[in-house]
Amino acid sequence: MKPVLGIETSCDETAAAIVCDDGRILADILFSQVREHAAFGGVVPEIAARAHLRHLPDFVRQVLERTGLSVRDLEGIAATSGPGLIGGLIVGCQFGKGLAMAEALPFVAVNHLEAHALTARIPGLAEDGLPFPYALMLLSGGHSLCMGVAELGQYERFGSTLDDAVGEAFDKVAKLLGLPWPGGPALERLAEGGDGGRFALPRPMLHRQGCDLSFSGLKTAVAQMARQQAAWNDSDKADLAASFQAAVAEVLADRASHACGMMRLRHPAAGTLVLAGGVAANRAIRAAVAGAAERQGFRLVAPPARLCSDNAIMVAWAGIERLRQGYRDGFDFRPLPRWPLEALNRVVA
Ligand code: KG4
Ligand code: ZN
Repeated sequence: MKPVLGIETSCDETAAAIVCDDGRILADILFSQVREHAAFGGVVPEIAARAHLRHLPDFVRQVLERTGLSVRDLEGIAATSGPGLIGGLIVGCQFGKGLAMAEALPFVAVNHLEAHALTARIPGLAEDGLPFPYALMLLSGGHSLCMGVAELGQYERFGSTLDDAVGEAFDKVAKLLGLPWPGGPALERLAEGGDGGRFALPRPMLHRQGCDLSFSGLKTAVAQMARQQAAWNDSDKADLAASFQAAVAEVLADRASHACGMMRLRHPAAGTLVLAGGVAANRAIRAAVAGAAERQGFRLVAPPARLCSDNAIMVAWAGIERLRQGYRDGFDFRPLPRWPLEALNRVVA
């Protein structure tokens, strides 16, 4: 199989990559628009769409140049076409379709969640490879879900957040603590020196049946705590950050444990839990989830941080998985701002 070009523009990362089906990454460009949005404390959709439009054509030219390939040398083109911010999705999906149409190549409209779900299958990432089926926890700024991945295009949701995504909760609590956006990595750094046992915070959903998550109550509890004390010195802030992180890690470990249990019921042979999404970069969370998986007799596979957060390598890989099975989308595919993973089940089944 020839290499595949992947395009990612669903949120605030503009990215292009060329990947082979043996897992070799021939070229990869990732531009995070953090500086464009930082002043607003979050992603501004219109600014994001314009930035994607400004950068994407050049990035695609550059990844081709770096590999010495022309579009004709590709197996196909895969572009994230949902879910996400519609402006960015239009840029990536239309650009990908245009390029594929011009060279009569297959086009794959990639579901961004499927790309996260399949990343750990890139050869070389998981020891001894990662066959289907496996359990998955996807923890990012926009999504928090637990699922069973039975095979390509067969997904079962075990649970998801009832309110905020976990990354969103990190970002909001970081803001309360006066940290810059995006707050997750800054909050983790601050928590390093803190005492996670100092503040008693709630553990939403702990020991509840299933795999649903909820973070808004925890976030409100942190906000109330922050208001109780007039002056917060650096050490107080570090303790609050550590206490918040400890609460999230404990809840996620409990949910991971339930996800492994639900997976075993449906697929007795399954023995792997995959952790994905930007929040998977958090070391306290990784450790807590790994411990929970181990107690359930599951191994934990978590791709390196750069592949956990948004990137084009995972999009190219999802394209490879689908093209290998002879799948392709029409040039009339319209980007879908809402596109649950389960919607794919009908297409492939
Ligand atoms: O997967 P991702 O890059 O983008 C989305 O698709 O949302 O995830 C970004 C989210 C942000 O909310 C960010 O604050 C959070 O992941 N994040 C972290 C860490 N690194 C990124 N949260 C906690 N600890 C981290 N180290
Ligand atoms: Zn993502």
